[in-house]
Amino acid sequence: MKPVEIETNVYWVGALDWNVRDFHGYTTNKGTTYNAYLAVDEKIALFDTVKEPFRSELIQKIFQIIGSRQVDYIIVNHVEPDHSGSLPAIMEILKPKKILCTFMGKKKLLEHYHREDWPYEEVKHGQTISLGRKTVQFIETRMLHWPDSMFSYLVEDRLLISSDAFGQHWCTSERYDDEVDQSELMKHSAKYYANILLLYSPLVKKLLETVTKMGLDINMIAPDHGLIWRGHPSKIIQAYDAWSNQKPKQKALVIYDTMWRSTEKMARAIGEGLTEEKIHVRLLDLKNNHRSDIMTEVLDAGALFFGSATLNNGMLPSMADMLHYVRGLRPQNKIGAAFGSYGWSGEAVPLINQAMEEMKMKIVDPGMKIKHFPAQKDLETCQEMGRKIGKTLKE
Ligand code: FEO
Repeated sequence: MKPVEIETNVYWVGALDWNVRDFHGYTTNKGTTYNAYLAVDEKIALFDTVKEPFRSELIQKIFQIIGSRQVDYIIVNHVEPDHSGSLPAIMEILKPKKILCTFMGKKKLLEHYHREDWPYEEVKHGQTISLGRKTVQFIETRMLHWPDSMFSYLVEDRLLISSDAFGQHWCTSERYDDEVDQSELMKHSAKYYANILLLYSPLVKKLLETVTKMGLDINMIAPDHGLIWRGHPSKIIQAYDAWSNQKPKQKALVIYDTMWRSTEKMARAIGEGLTEEKIHVRLLDLKNNHRSDIMTEVLDAGALFFGSATLNNGMLPSMADMLHYVRGLRPQNKIGAAFGSYGWSGEAVPLINQAMEEMKMKIVDPGMKIKHFPAQKDLETCQEMGRKIGKTLKE
């Protein structure tokens, strides 16, 4: 794909990765993009690079635009290798005058590439540099989602280059949000938030306040992954505001794995009880649903049920994986309950309860354990548990 001029003399020079399917545990079913941007003025600045296997594409695009001119600055908004992986090659070929990054950016670059000889220059929050007619202002976004992260704001263009924030893992031939299906766009955006940024929601809230206080007039948001928000940048800002508040909906997830379908029967009975209370319910079998897709559903759910049969004095490995993943992303404002069948020892339910306590979830039922196959009366008890938690969710 050729460079795309997204603003006067500002170009998308990124790469399309159609076939990547795993992003450290996150299923990227439709690939991703690594967006880098080039601002051409009296001085030329490159904002981030691309994942290393795509370095030649980046270099070709840059030369197509600048010919024999020199890149003055490489602005490293984020050091994670999907954005800095091509930096060693770029440094050799383009020989920029400066690498502009945060204090932590320099530290992280040194830890990755061990190049003391590169021309680093630390930039601070709020600092500006002039490229000629264009001014770049830096906004430090520490821990969103790495210690080094920052945004770059092109003042005259009202363009926010937002690093990983506001992105999606979605590879498309289109470059702008208003060229694609809106529902799919928001689904990818939600999945990205739920799996990458949820843990940092308090910082997202602070950042949105900071951006408001700084009075940034934003016409376009250009993230490092996925589509560029030119149609309605406020749409994604409002979505981040809502997601970072983590206000739960009247929605319940019944997440489970089963051995001989007893736990599944319990899951279905719980789902029926919730449905009777008019709660939006989703039953998610861990054999058929990937953890990162379930996490997307967790984003706005109010109640989480976790069900597992007991295996070898513990929970099923798939449930241990799921709970570990959810715990790492620290969702807030959830109520929950455990359930599961067992044969003789029955550790799964207490272990799930322990995990939910560690996640600071409000456990609204001590948990439902059933020996071997559930009888009709057991399934009625499961339905009652669903109804009870449905009622709690509506309070
Ligand atoms: Fe897209 Fe944090 O890297």
